[in-house]
Amino acid sequence: MSIEKKFVNQFLTVSSKAALSCYYFVGKKDKISADKAAVDSMRSELNNMNINGKIVIGEGELDEAPMLYIGEELGNKNGPMLDIAVDPLEGTNFAAYNLPGALSVIAVSEKNNLFNAPETYMEKISSRVKEKNIIDLDYTVKQNIYNLSEYLNKKPENITACILDRPRHAKIINELKKLKVNLKLITDGDVAGALLVTEEKYNVDIFMGIGGGPEGVLAATALDAFDCFFQCRFLFDTHKDKQRAKDMGISDFSKKYYLNEITSGDSIFCATGITDGDLVNGIKIQDDEFISETLVTHKSADLKKVIKFKQKI
Ligand code: FBP
Repeated sequence: MSIEKKFVNQFLTVSSKAALSCYYFVGKKDKISADKAAVDSMRSELNNMNINGKIVIGEGELDEAPMLYIGEELGNKNGPMLDIAVDPLEGTNFAAYNLPGALSVIAVSEKNNLFNAPETYMEKISSRVKEKNIIDLDYTVKQNIYNLSEYLNKKPENITACILDRPRHAKIINELKKLKVNLKLITDGDVAGALLVTEEKYNVDIFMGIGGGPEGVLAATALDAFDCFFQCRFLFDTHKDKQRAKDMGISDFSKKYYLNEITSGDSIFCATGITDGDLVNGIKIQDDEFISETLVTHKSADLKKVIKFKQKI
């Protein structure tokens, strides 16, 4: 079974409209309003669709998020049963401070094919290189870089690694520096960071580090369509995190997940630019029309490209 092609345009419209709603709050130093605008728009558009959808990755648990919470059912039920993962505003700082890289992201799969990820941090690693035993979360930074370097026939100083610039990554970053690897340090937005390995034009060979679990699952959907490598491990620090994980059916807290355990079957992924970024340009408004750019993947159709969308406001 696969997801009908007609849904590509519909989900692209959903993320484009969410991006437009958020765009009005760009540079207003108000993360909450920017996020709310994108959430409201995404939720109401999804509710108008002929789908039987369920949020598996959203704004949080019902007690924290009244909209797009995990488990919320969306759509008019006249259509396929879909798992839906959303990040209506990925990069709240980017939007609030009018910085490059804010995105509106949605990913869908057929029911029960997307990992129901807890709202915790996750160790993650992605690369274009998929061959076995080259990259692994369990290898040291040095081992991963040496393997990649040998496989790509590039010296470590010609390899570029993308990582969130965080104090928690000081050890990894120091190790990469010692190996003379080029760094692409991002201040936020690791959905896009993880996806910079998908095409050579971005000049990133490996993405690594700790970031949001939900963001990891979203990125995994697109990485799957691009036939890339991805591995992750959730990090459960508190008793509450562990209890939630147990409630979600996770018993092995240190399990390393492979891409096919995070997403399987067909999927559609849409990431629309709110502000200009590495993957896509942001919203542009001309007269009474807005133009958006969305990175779209549809696995079964082997679709992976940036699609422009124009609509009257
Ligand atoms: P928000 O859009 O929720 O602000 O998340 C941005 C982000 O940079 C994610 O892309 C990333 O996974 C996460 O925050 C990293 O978390 P932290 O800022 O706590 O290191």
